[in-house]
Amino acid sequence: MVINELLQLGVEKLGEREYLDPLLESIIILSYLQNVDKSYIYTHGDKEIPEEIVDKFLNFIEKRKKGYPLSYILKEKEFYGLDFYIEEGVLVPRPDTEILVEWIINKVNNEFKDKPLNVVELGTGSGCIPLTLAYYLKNIKVFAVDIDEVALKVANINRDNLNLNDRVSFYKGDLFNGISSLQLEGKIDIIVSNPPYIPTNAIPELQIEVREYEPKKALDGGEEGLLFYKKIVPESKKYLKSGGILAFEIGYDQGMKVKKLLEKNGFKDISIIKDFQGLDRVVVGRLG
Ligand SMILES: C[S@@+](CC[C@H](N)C(=O)[O-])C[C@H]1O[C@@H](n2cnc3c(N)ncnc32)[C@H](O)[C@@H]1O
Repeated sequence: MVINELLQLGVEKLGEREYLDPLLESIIILSYLQNVDKSYIYTHGDKEIPEEIVDKFLNFIEKRKKGYPLSYILKEKEFYGLDFYIEEGVLVPRPDTEILVEWIINKVNNEFKDKPLNVVELGTGSGCIPLTLAYYLKNIKVFAVDIDEVALKVANINRDNLNLNDRVSFYKGDLFNGISSLQLEGKIDIIVSNPPYIPTNAIPELQIEVREYEPKKALDGGEEGLLFYKKIVPESKKYLKSGGILAFEIGYDQGMKVKKLLEKNGFKDISIIKDFQGLDRVVVGRLG
């Protein structure tokens, strides 16, 4: 079978699925399997494909048709200009989270340039937040926590790939318990988290990619989705220096509720930052 025939087969099979670009995904999967650029696929439509690649391609297309995330097939996802290794069991990094990361990068560059800073990150997943921050901000050291073994394995792979072993460390545990033995109380400049924030009863309504294949532990934020904010905010006061920053990713309708939670706990200069769709996406505050 030649490239164009195989792509056509991919398009036919994927065509029945919602929210996806069948031709683009077929091209991406085939270029991954052949270890070539997408442009090679575009320009070599009549090139014969070895049978074992055809079989693998059709197998991946079948999985994709059932909603299996493309990033789990390709085992990678680009985040803020960096390539992250990803596998099933870990949340796929989202563009929304780039807004959180960008806010911190700008804040540090504008206000704390070259000053050594200690950062804590809770719920690290693939490690995309601490590793991106440490990659772009040479003055920070990050202590990152996750409760999940697969997440920590993947985060460690990404840390090795990005050569950031000297400034990012990963710990296993339940939120701050993961770093409780490090005596970091009162020494942290920034605490950042993209915690699970989907209300439990909204999970069945999510896109199939997310609800069927991404880890529940990374999604489920309890009844209102606010469980993790309620745990993190009061405890963060123990770890932050006076004037230290707390920065969260939030669900589109959680801005006011998380803002109030921060106010109640004595945080000042609270802002809600919107994503590119104009929805609330990040809340930040400073310990007063
Ligand atoms: C929404 S994901 C965020 C992952 C990653 N930081 C990102 O932005 O792509 C939340 C992460 O929190 C972790 N998590 C869930 N409960 C936790 C807990 N009690 N303590 C620490 N981490 C937890 C999950 O395993 C998951 O990796």
